[in-house]
Amino acid sequence: MKYQVRVTRTTASRLSRVDFDNLPFGKYFSDHMFVAEYRDGQWQDLRIEPLSEFATHPATMALHYGQAVFEGMKASKSHDGRPMLFRPEMHARRLNFSARRLAMPEFPEDLFVEALHMLVGIDADWIPPKKGSALYIRPFMYATDPYVGVRPSDTYRFVIFTCPVGPYYPKPVSLLAETHYIRAARGGTGEAKAAGNYAAAMLPARLANEKGYDQVLWLDAREFKYIQEVGTMNIFFVIDGKVVTPDPDQEGTILRGITRDSIIHILRDEGYEVEERRISIDEVVAAHDAGKLQEVFGTGTAAVVAHVQKIAYEGKEMILPPVEDRKISPFAKSYIDELRAGLREDKFGWVVPVRLPESIDV
Ligand SMILES: Cc1ncc(COP(=O)(O)O)c(C=O)c1O
Repeated sequence: MKYQVRVTRTTASRLSRVDFDNLPFGKYFSDHMFVAEYRDGQWQDLRIEPLSEFATHPATMALHYGQAVFEGMKASKSHDGRPMLFRPEMHARRLNFSARRLAMPEFPEDLFVEALHMLVGIDADWIPPKKGSALYIRPFMYATDPYVGVRPSDTYRFVIFTCPVGPYYPKPVSLLAETHYIRAARGGTGEAKAAGNYAAAMLPARLANEKGYDQVLWLDAREFKYIQEVGTMNIFFVIDGKVVTPDPDQEGTILRGITRDSIIHILRDEGYEVEERRISIDEVVAAHDAGKLQEVFGTGTAAVVAHVQKIAYEGKEMILPPVEDRKISPFAKSYIDELRAGLREDKFGWVVPVRLPESIDV
C-alpha cells in the first residue's frame, strides 16, 4: 500500500448510546476520525483514532486569518445493507480546488478516497439503516501554525469525522432575493468551500429569517441582477418546460455542487433540456408573471432537492405552483435516493461500495 495509516480502535464505543430513531443533524459523532498533519512540505502522521478534541494554541492561524476549507458528503446503506459512498473523488477534487484558492497545500486525492473507505468501513455500524438516513461525512483542512502575522501557514491538519443523521424531510422553502449584502464577488472565494464564506452569510441569513424567509437567494455583486445560489444549495428553475441553472464558469462565484452536477446529468439523460447560463432575477419575475415559472428547487448533499415555495424580490412575492404539480424535481430527487439505496442501475458509475484495504489490519 502506498500510504501507511496507523489505526487505533476505540475500546469504548459510544454506538449503543445513540438513538437511531431520533438523530438531530450534526449533533452525534461516530467513534473514529481520520487525521493527517502537514509538516515540512509533506502530509504525514496519517492515522485513524478515537474521535477526541485537539489542543488549540491561541495563535492557531486558522482562527485568526481563516485558512479553513471543508467538504460535506454522505455514506448510506444500500437496501441490502452494504455501505456506499457517492462520488467521493469529486469531493477530493473540490477540496483541493478550495485549498488552492486559500494558498493551502493539496491533499492527495487517492489518500482522501482511501481514508474515506477506511473510516466509513471501521464505523460502518454507525450508518443508520433506515431509509433516507445516512452517515454525514465532514472532511476539512485548517492552518495550524501558532503565529501572529498575515501569511500562509506552514503547517496544516486534515481531518475527517462523521455524524449519523436521520432522514431529511425538507419543507418547501421561501427565499429572499438579497439586494444589499452579497455572498461572493468575481475573483473572490465564492467558488471555494471556505469557512469564511459561511461566516459572511450568517448575518444576511439571520435578517432574512427575521423577515420570515428561510434562506437568502444570492445575486451577483456588481449589479444585484444575476442569480448565484441559495444558502448551502445550488438553484434550478423550470421555465416553460426547460431547466435553467446558473453557470459557475460564467459567474465565477458559485460553489460547484456535486448534487447539481449529478442532477444535470440525470435530467439530460432523461431527455430534458438543461441550460447552464446566466439567469437574471428579472427573467424569473417575467416568467412568473407570464405563468411560465413551473418549478424552482435547490440542490445539495443534505436535502438532495429542496422545493422552493416562494421568492421575494423588492417587496414582491412570487408564489410557485404546489409541489404535487411538479414533475422534474421530484423525479431528480427520487433518482438520486434510489441510486444511493442501490435500487437503480448506476449507469454513471457514481455509487462506490465501501471497502477495507486488505493491507491494513482493522
Ligand atoms: C454554498 C453551497 N452551495 C452549494 C452547495 C451544494 O453542494 P453539494 O451538492 O456538493 O452538496 C453547498 C453544499 O455543499 C454549499 O455550501
